[in-house]
Amino acid sequence: MSLEAQIDRTNLPQHIAIIMDGNGRWAKEQGMSRVLGHKNGVGSVREVAEAAAELGIQHITLYAFSTENWARPKHEVNALMELLVETIKSEMSTLKKNKIQLNAIGNLSELPESCQINLKEAIEETSNHDHMTLTLALSYSARWELENAMQTIAHKIERKEISANQVNEELISKHLNTANMPDPELLIRTSGEKRISNFLLWQIAYSELYFTDTLWPDFKKDDLFQAIIDYQKRERRFGKTSEQVNQL
Ligand code: FPP
Repeated sequence: MSLEAQIDRTNLPQHIAIIMDGNGRWAKEQGMSRVLGHKNGVGSVREVAEAAAELGIQHITLYAFSTENWARPKHEVNALMELLVETIKSEMSTLKKNKIQLNAIGNLSELPESCQINLKEAIEETSNHDHMTLTLALSYSARWELENAMQTIAHKIERKEISANQVNEELISKHLNTANMPDPELLIRTSGEKRISNFLLWQIAYSELYFTDTLWPDFKKDDLFQAIIDYQKRERRFGKTSEQVNQL
């Protein structure tokens, strides 16, 4: 039986978050430059997005550029920004064909102007697509997001728009970049690293974590299916006992 056929369509995660790691190592293995590793990573983005949309996953969030990635060599940062613009343009047909809505989270005002413009246009152009939302985390870090949310909440308290005792989980969630999305049930990280690297720290409180040695440019449809099959075998207990969870 194919991996796709082994997936239980009634128990799909609604939201899958992915830390796409290993482009540099993949390039080194092939004797290529790191930038070509990132370019080859775009093929995996396309395959994963199409496969997820076909399955009926509602949200995919990709860690495409972290706040910390600004510290990389300037030429790599520039190449990644150019690749982002090129990819948004070249993949518009994929987004249209699969009715995928593009979204972005992070400190987007830090991105070069051409990226901001292209991103905004693509987000607007795909805003009526209802099959799946593909969110790119760009210049994103979870601590930055939480710091922002806390500042906004503190200002609201200062202005007496809300009182301190109204600050609860729901209110905090509503002040995050992911306000309109369910929390990811599944977080995937490629390339053998077993870290979260400042990604969606609040939102992954109960996520199932899936680590694979596969490098991102090699991560294809079947790798996504394998991760979902693994997720479906797990028992999500949310702090309860196994007996409680399995009670009819
Ligand atoms: C991590 O690999 C990957 C990145 C920092 C960039 C991710 C970008 C892409 C997959 C391509 C562009 C994507 C979009 C959505 C336009 P790494 O460089 O840290 O790899 P290494 O750990 O092996 O060095």
